[in-house]
Amino acid sequence: MKGNNMEYVENNDVLTIRLPRRISMDNKAAFDSEFFAVPVSEDRLKEIVLDATDLQYISSSGLRSILSFSKRHPLPLRITELNPMVYEIFSTTGFTELFHVEKALRRIQVEGLKELGRGMYGAVYSVNDEQILKVFYGMESREDLEARLKTVHTAFVKSIPTIIPFETVHTEMGLGLLFEMLYSESLADMVHKHPEQMEEYAIKMAELAQTMAHTHFEEGSLRSRSEMLKSEFASASFLPSEMIAELQEYIDLIPNRDTAVHGDFHARNIMLLEGEPVLIDMDDFSTGHPIWDIACLYRVYPYLISLDQAKADRLFDLNGKVPYDAFYYQVMHFDRKEVPLFWELFLKEYFKGFDEENVKRFMKVAEFYSDLMVIRFVVDRCRPMANQPDQSDLLSAKIGLIEDILSRMRQYDIRNLVACLEEWR
Ligand SMILES: Nc1ncnc2c1ncn2[C@@H]1O[C@H](COP(=O)(O)OP(=O)(O)O)[C@@H](O)[C@H]1O
Ligand SMILES: [Mg+2]
Repeated sequence: MKGNNMEYVENNDVLTIRLPRRISMDNKAAFDSEFFAVPVSEDRLKEIVLDATDLQYISSSGLRSILSFSKRHPLPLRITELNPMVYEIFSTTGFTELFHVEKALRRIQVEGLKELGRGMYGAVYSVNDEQILKVFYGMESREDLEARLKTVHTAFVKSIPTIIPFETVHTEMGLGLLFEMLYSESLADMVHKHPEQMEEYAIKMAELAQTMAHTHFEEGSLRSRSEMLKSEFASASFLPSEMIAELQEYIDLIPNRDTAVHGDFHARNIMLLEGEPVLIDMDDFSTGHPIWDIACLYRVYPYLISLDQAKADRLFDLNGKVPYDAFYYQVMHFDRKEVPLFWELFLKEYFKGFDEENVKRFMKVAEFYSDLMVIRFVVDRCRPMANQPDQSDLLSAKIGLIEDILSRMRQYDIRNLVACLEEWR
């Protein structure tokens, strides 16, 4: 520590103290004299963070200093940026149970990696032969990602077939998650390649949807689909407030359930692993009524396939330059001929044994909520435009599009129609 003053900084009620390279018997006295001299205003602070970026070694006497410090200042204490060796010391001594201890995230450079796919919130890259990286464009916090990791683990231990992320990492584009690479194709690609086996694939997908609809989760172990969607709309402050209220009211009409909802269920988010379907893209995995997944499918299959070029231009901003058929294939990996056949086979299997009249009602409700999912998509496209004066015309056009979809939705007697959802078992 010789003459090396300990760095500390206070920011938004958080006091961050940077730990030195070594804390051991030989420098304990010097360390303590600086550590305990850091001014701590307990009544003002919410949390103390010990930043271990530089820390290479800590002995048990160093750990005791941290313990005494936390007793002297009884505020929540978080120890961050631990390298794997130092983390090991904290973990074997039980410190990881006493305090909130965070490993340093590994850094991975995205530049130069091969891109496998790109969505609205991020992109997927192959890191090497065994790993893929899903990067979220700067919007997610570490806590969000850890929560996602936990969600997928919660699903996995309930036997939902899915791919597990194993690490949160830093990249120059934002935080990301590492997954094992699946050397397999999506269910959509398999249908396209082997149309003669379409029925078999549709059955597998319907069985997977039924598995989710019958897998129960303890209260609080997952987020609720309805709450997630409501808070998404609530955060769209660029929409007129009556519009937000109307959308939220529609969400509230759907009964809650403790069963699984994927949230972005379609045949490109299912990989076939030795013939068995495995879910990917688990960002919206949650609990709720199975109508949410069926409405999602309704949107991507019968609804999107029904659009003509002009409507697709308006929804996807193709500007009449990209042929819609090609665009649809690029996104869904299905073509116009395949979709109606596949959709029919899926529904036949999914609703096997259901009352026919009920199924007709369910499909009306699914049609209505597929419009709500289209609105959600449009709202997400608006987000980057909000507060950009040069994009205000585009934003108004998008809000006009939402208004048009809402007027179509208002033709439904949805408040009465939803009663049938209780019959959906
Ligand atoms: N574990 C994986 N192994 C191989 N390819 C993957 C894996 N995860 C995703 N991909 C590829 O990346 C694409 C996008 O990933 P996905 O998680 O669905 O993100 P998005 O939210 O952009 O749809 C997938 O359609 C698939 O082609
Ligand atoms: Mg996907």
